[in-house]
Formats: sequence, C-alpha cells, structure tokens
Amino acid sequence: MKVLGISGSLRKGSWNTSVLRAAEGLTPAGMTIEIGAIDDIPLYNEDIRAAGLPPSVERFRNQIAAADAVLFVSPEYNFSIPGVLKNAIDWGSRPPNQPFNDKPVAIMGASGGPVGTARMQYDLRKSLGSINALVMLKPEVFIGQAGTKIDEAGNVTDETTKDFIRKLLEALAAWTERVRGTAA
Ligand code: FNR
Repeated sequence: MKVLGISGSLRKGSWNTSVLRAAEGLTPAGMTIEIGAIDDIPLYNEDIRAAGLPPSVERFRNQIAAADAVLFVSPEYNFSIPGVLKNAIDWGSRPPNQPFNDKPVAIMGASGGPVGTARMQYDLRKSLGSINALVMLKPEVFIGQAGTKIDEAGNVTDETTKDFIRKLLEALAAWTERVRGTAA
C-alpha cells in the first residue's frame, strides 16, 4: 500500500514534516510512505491552468493518482488551513480526472497550542469533502504543545504521540482496504 505524505509546512525545521518523517518509520507491514513536495507549486491562476498545467502541478496530481491513500500532516494557520496547502489542493481539485475523487485520505497535525490543529483539520475535511476525497473520520491525531514532543533535531520523542501516529496509520490501512473493497 503506497501512501503519499504531504506536509502543510515548507520550513526546514517543521514539526509537521518531522511528524511525517516519523510516520515513515511507524507504518504497519505492507505500507510505505512517499513524501511529496508542494513548495514549487505556483499560486493558483485559472489563466495559467488554461495555458497548460505547470510541471510541478502535473507531478503533484500524478503522485496523488498513483497513491493508494494520501496523508496530510499540517500546521494550523490562523485557525485554518495554511495557504500553501490549500493552494496545492486547489490545483489538485480541477477537472479532468481530478485525482482526489474517491481517494482515501487521513489527516494529522502538530502545533504549539493546546488544540493541536483541530480547527485546521475540520476545515481541511470540509474542503476535501467538496472534491469527493474519502477522509477517514477516526482516530483523530492532534499533537498539541509539539515543542515538548519533538526535539530540536526533528525527532518525535514522545511515546504516546508515536502510538497515536501508529494507530492512525493502522486505521488508514484498514480504511483504504475498505474503500477499495479488499477488506478481509
Ligand atoms: C501560526 N501558528 C498557529 N498555531 C496554532 O495552534 N493555531 C493557529 O491558528 C496558528 N496560526 C498561525 C499562523 C501563522 C501564519 C503562523 C506562521 C503560525 C503557530 C504554528 O503552530 C507554529 O508556527 C508551528 O510551528 C507551525 O508548524 P511547523 O512549521 O512547525 O510544521
């Protein structure tokens, strides 16, 4: 099972990218996570789209289409989805063959605040619902006070957090199988 992992933060020391890298090592048997990039995707412009999709957008869309599932790990900006992530999703959402259609998706997030990106996650669910992505409802993983759970080198040091990530990935494997109709 191939999962495309997308971080909603572009900064090098990102907690959310750190969580995504930790997830790579916490997958259940048979699952691999490939981390995709959104830092080279231009701002959405219908005129650019009309002239032909930029290569970075083609790559992003092809990666989504080729993945069995998508995992978003994102910060919360001003109680909602970071613009860079929303912009990438907007590019991904346009016809023809929009790649999020019927795609199993899971969401996690890390922030310094106490609610651990909950508000971002509910907005992201709403947006993804509009393009018929099949967002897994539970478990939810809200990593609050992330500075106490991720060290300076980007290692997730908190065992409870690692357990939550592991459980979400196990649930994503089952959810993906269920959506594909291959559940035991
Ligand atoms: C933030 N931050 C933030 N945190 C939060 O819990 N709720 C919020 O609404 C916001 N809003 C917000 C807006 C903007 C523009 C920035 C830059 C930051 C703080 C945020 O959680 C913190 O910067 C994280 O470190 C961002 O995640 P990464 O980059 O470490 O993955």
